Amino acid sequence: MIQLSNGHHFEFMVASGALAFDGGGWPWEQPLRCMGLLKPELFTVVTKTLTLEPRKGNLRWSRPLGVVKPMRGGVINSIGLTNPGIDWWCEKIGPKVAQLPWDLMVSLEADVASDVITMLNKLKGLPLKGIELNLSCPNTIHEGSRQTDYMIQVCHQAKEQSEWPLIAKLSVDHDYLTMAQEISGAVEAVSINSVPWKLAFPEKSSPLAKFGGGGVSGKLAQQWTWKATEQIASQNTVPVIGPSVWDYEDIERIFGMGAGAVSFGSVFVCHPWRPTRFVERWKREHSGTPPLR
Ligand SMILES: Cc1cc2nc3c(=O)[nH]c(=O)nc-3n(C[C@H](O)[C@H](O)[C@H](O)COP(=O)(O)O)c2cc1C
Repeated sequence: MIQLSNGHHFEFMVASGALAFDGGGWPWEQPLRCMGLLKPELFTVVTKTLTLEPRKGNLRWSRPLGVVKPMRGGVINSIGLTNPGIDWWCEKIGPKVAQLPWDLMVSLEADVASDVITMLNKLKGLPLKGIELNLSCPNTIHEGSRQTDYMIQVCHQAKEQSEWPLIAKLSVDHDYLTMAQEISGAVEAVSINSVPWKLAFPEKSSPLAKFGGGGVSGKLAQQWTWKATEQIASQNTVPVIGPSVWDYEDIERIFGMGAGAVSFGSVFVCHPWRPTRFVERWKREHSGTPPLR
């Protein structure tokens, strides 16, 4: 379990992008909610990432599978942070947050520190459980040029302005151990993004090559995301949220690595009922609370 400074605590998180901008799921997931097969209220849900200005990205709603490729055991995506922008979110979703039956965190792209501060100011007063700073989208044009020092600075500047606990979302191709150490005073947990295709499969051409290769997630990404989870956990500077659950047993494995919480991402794309089924089963089988980290 991860305990945040505002008193919020959680074991299970929904990763950004899995359940849309309000945490209630994408339109095609609504029948599952009606049938009780997808229950966002079991999780702390992170919104899909927002940017200061609306961003077209690569996703076209008429052809979503053009940039999201479900594979056996995972997903490759190169959405590129398509989103309607923070002002849209504050107008349409912000007023409803207090009534939502699930705990919500907002994901902000933390590419430019001043944009993050502006977005934090726009969100002021909303009953959010936290903010996730997305420092790691594998599909944006800035990837690769970002410097560890700069990302550390963004976290510290955001901390000064944020009325909510911060989570930093890192990438396996970051110097994540240095980052975890340096941002531990500013953020209260770290999460891990999808794995850049070029890192996962350097010899193979990606089906999303024309978008830069995309990010690999799910079971296909475990080798990298779990290594990072284990290393960050054993460094013991900041709690880590372990990703890439695919099978029920993965939850136990991730807690066994020392993660404070577990997150569900692309498993929602391929098997949207699994996270709810897994968490309900976990709760039945583990009625005692695991120790706080
Ligand atoms: C379709 C899709 C959309 C995503 N959108 C976002 C996003 O907007 N922001 C973000 O930080 N991560 C996004 N991600 C990455 C996930 O939040 C998660 O970090 C990644 O899939 C690794 O976790 P997993 O192996 O459990 O899927 C997205 C992933 C997928 C598959």
